[in-house]
Amino acid sequence: MTTYAEADLPQLFPGTVNTAEGARALFADARASATIGRGAFGPIAIHHHDVVELLRDKRLRGPGMDFARVSGIPEGSRAWKRQEQILLFMEGDDHHRLRRLVSKAFTPKAVEALRPTTRATIAGLLDAVIDAGSCDAVPALCEPFPIPIICALVGIEPDRVADMSRWASSILQSLRLDAGAYLAEIEQAQAELDDYLDVLIDERRAAPRDDLLSNLILAEEEGDRLSRSELQSVVAMMLVAGTDTTRNQLSNMIHTFAEHPDQWALLRSRPDLVPNAVEEAIRWEPATEALPRVAAEPLEIGGYHVEAGSIVVLMSMSANHDTAVMADADVFDIARETPAGWHLLTFGGGIHYCLGASLARLELTEALAELSSRLPGLRPAGEAVTNPPGSVIAGYTTLPIAWG
Ligand code: HEM
Repeated sequence: MTTYAEADLPQLFPGTVNTAEGARALFADARASATIGRGAFGPIAIHHHDVVELLRDKRLRGPGMDFARVSGIPEGSRAWKRQEQILLFMEGDDHHRLRRLVSKAFTPKAVEALRPTTRATIAGLLDAVIDAGSCDAVPALCEPFPIPIICALVGIEPDRVADMSRWASSILQSLRLDAGAYLAEIEQAQAELDDYLDVLIDERRAAPRDDLLSNLILAEEEGDRLSRSELQSVVAMMLVAGTDTTRNQLSNMIHTFAEHPDQWALLRSRPDLVPNAVEEAIRWEPATEALPRVAAEPLEIGGYHVEAGSIVVLMSMSANHDTAVMADADVFDIARETPAGWHLLTFGGGIHYCLGASLARLELTEALAELSSRLPGLRPAGEAVTNPPGSVIAGYTTLPIAWG
């Protein structure tokens, strides 16, 4: 069998393509000509069936603490210890135990209870700009959207939402590939958040409420409970995993609809299509385009031998557009019915499948319902600027839109 290293493969560096449309075209060409691609770190799985299978393949593991190491976070530092307790970077029994305990608290009922806060948050943001007839959607709508919802989920007092927003921005630097350069800022924010949570944990222990923090404190399995430091890490994890993803996905969704006025008009005439339209929007322009994995053992991908230790990127964005499993996957269609065998890959799959997928869907559904009912004639109003190349999450830094 040909080894990956010897193969002649399409060179896939999506960072060099600065539009979502360009990236879709790059990967469509690659899927038409090859079984896998070559990226900056190693092999890239580009076909839907490979990505689905590899997400469940036990020979691949998550990036673990390798990510913290290469991004320059010193071993043993406060930032390092926090990342060791974040599900995304954990594997095996430790991951399984923490995920079970967190899942006990993060229930469908807890998510559903956030619907009124979510709707009120997007409605309030829209109230502030609606009369102007245009805005930059990123600072006006997307950036501020997720934090009040995560705060309501966790049980953070409303007067600390601004602090949470500041801490989240700093702690999110820990996901950069050059996180070491931001260590002082990350650790300062983490220390302030820990101090605040210390007090809150004591209060909730004494008098539990109907919020995630109380439920996490009470979550128990066979006598096992979360330690204080684990509780602090879980809250930091919600901030890291649940804010930048959601705000960027909202910007992608608004961008997609501004570029598809026929689908916007259809949605406005058929509000019942909102949940379907959310699924289609997160398929079309996903905030999470790629899932990094490490080969713990040698394996075969797309007919090529891949050595143990290789970094393998599972390109969920490419899989979402694979016409082999969805014949018209290259068309944005909010009324589509998905074919048998279809898996949306924006939330990943396997043991690391997004724990917040139902919350993310609820947030985007409420946002789209509010936006589509109040913004007739949504359209681009200037040049949309994507996140800089190399960003972990795909979205926009500037997104001028107009309506009416
Ligand atoms: C549109 C918004 C979101 C997107 C696109 C998204 C996407 C993802 C993806 C792709 C993964 C798996 C990464 C991998 O396998 O390498 C993941 C994991 C995770 N997500 Fe989300 N996410 C979103 C929102 C949220 C929200 C709102 C929360 C919680 C409040 C959340 C919590 C998590 C957690 C805890 C994990 C780690 C699960 C594990 O490793 O077991 N996510 N997310």
